[in-house]
Amino acid sequence: MSDRLFIFDTTLRDGEQVPGCQLNTVEKIQVARQLEALGVDIIEAGFPVSSPGDFNSVIEISKAVTWPTICALTRAVQKDIDVAAEALQYAKHKRIHTGIGTSDSHIRYKFNSNREEIIERAVAAVKYAKKYVEDVEFYAEDAGRTENEYLARVVDAVVKAGATVVNIPDTTGYCLPQEFGAKIKYLMEHVDGLSAGKAILSTHCHNDLGMATANTIAGIMNGARQAEVTINGIGERAGNTSLEEVAMILKCHKGIGIDTNINTQKIYPTSRLVSSLMNMPVQPNKAIVGRNAFAHSSGIHQDGVLKNVQTYEIMNPKDVGIDDNAIVLTARSGRAALKHRLNVLGVEIDGERLDATYQEFLKLADKKKEVNDDDILMLAGADRAAAHAVKLDYLQVTTGMGVKSVACIGLDIAGEKFEASASGNGPVDAAIRALKNIIKRQMVLKEFTIQAISKGSDDVGKVHMQVEYDDHLYYGFGANTDIVTASVEAYIDCINKFKK
Ligand code: KIV
Ligand code: ZN
Repeated sequence: MSDRLFIFDTTLRDGEQVPGCQLNTVEKIQVARQLEALGVDIIEAGFPVSSPGDFNSVIEISKAVTWPTICALTRAVQKDIDVAAEALQYAKHKRIHTGIGTSDSHIRYKFNSNREEIIERAVAAVKYAKKYVEDVEFYAEDAGRTENEYLARVVDAVVKAGATVVNIPDTTGYCLPQEFGAKIKYLMEHVDGLSAGKAILSTHCHNDLGMATANTIAGIMNGARQAEVTINGIGERAGNTSLEEVAMILKCHKGIGIDTNINTQKIYPTSRLVSSLMNMPVQPNKAIVGRNAFAHSSGIHQDGVLKNVQTYEIMNPKDVGIDDNAIVLTARSGRAALKHRLNVLGVEIDGERLDATYQEFLKLADKKKEVNDDDILMLAGADRAAAHAVKLDYLQVTTGMGVKSVACIGLDIAGEKFEASASGNGPVDAAIRALKNIIKRQMVLKEFTIQAISKGSDDVGKVHMQVEYDDHLYYGFGANTDIVTASVEAYIDCINKFKK
């Protein structure tokens, strides 16, 4: 069996399903190009029938990248497959990913069907997709909870129908690593088409019990030759298996004997890019890409690392693209240094956009001693708000201990100026009350998170908010060295997304 593992990245499909993580087409292209540079083999670019935006993104990503295979998701439904094939028309290498639920609960409650009929529908979908593309992947949704004997019959049938890859998702993140590994082994041993090399198995593990990566590795060690992953492990609920973990486990544990095409030095920049574009912070202790992943704070560890780095480090931070010697940007850095750092982070920038970002960079560098990757990614994406109808003109807040906070706010709404003031039980409360004195709608703040990226008191505060309006939840983001301003910007970001 081949010792090469194909990396199938689903950041732009399963990852993008996370509420608040939606990207526009331009941002998706940016991520796709970075995934290509990272060495991903297959990019799942979207679910074309689900929305015109997804359809368009698959078209544009297909045009923008060259060597990775572009994959489009469908249900086992002819209309979905027709639309996916149309969306893939410009892809140099294309794949349709179709499938259906195979666990008893999916068969009974989702499809009100029976096992035999599900096999028929699975086979029909694969045959139909084969009319459009040679490369067809079939997913047996909830395979983690599907009985192995029946699953083997499904896999056998779809491989005979022409599937080139069969995806075995642990959709609910339920399996134990040993159980998931045994499932892959069982399929390898009981489906002739797999041992004959007609198709390969793929893992697609969710992290509900924190076992996604362990399950993926168990699957690989038992014969799977494709792993479905996302950057930073983002995805539905607790997320998917993270690309960086799988790539680094295989690099660190040479004994497993499996290689990928991933250029691991591009892992960190890719992680920062995705986190920034999706406004999705990476937990500080996240393996490989978290802020603390290579920080040794205890005295015993520091002492050991200073004597010999191997005492407490199993991998070199440089191997994942974290370079301590990377140029630190300050107020004295020029345009070229800013452009270079943004390029490393996957952002192509030139001309007027570079000039504008550089001006914003200088303003920030005046307030902060050192400007980090997250800051410049945030600045480079700041023009996303330029088209917004509601803009913050000014904000003044008086606050302190033992006094009520008072805020005055100025808004520009489609070119018209509005002002209001209010008091509140804290500066953010006062500012939002003042905002609501101008925008009088039934809006309720549902979630409010403030995050500082590095350690200094001059850091940029990033605010994530969820506001409920008209029975919908809207997600907003704001970033500023002043966290009250960042909070108001996040609220305004939500308002700008209101559908009416
Ligand atoms: O988790 C899952 O089962 C999926 C399939 C649609 C592949 O994402
Ligand atoms: Zn999934």
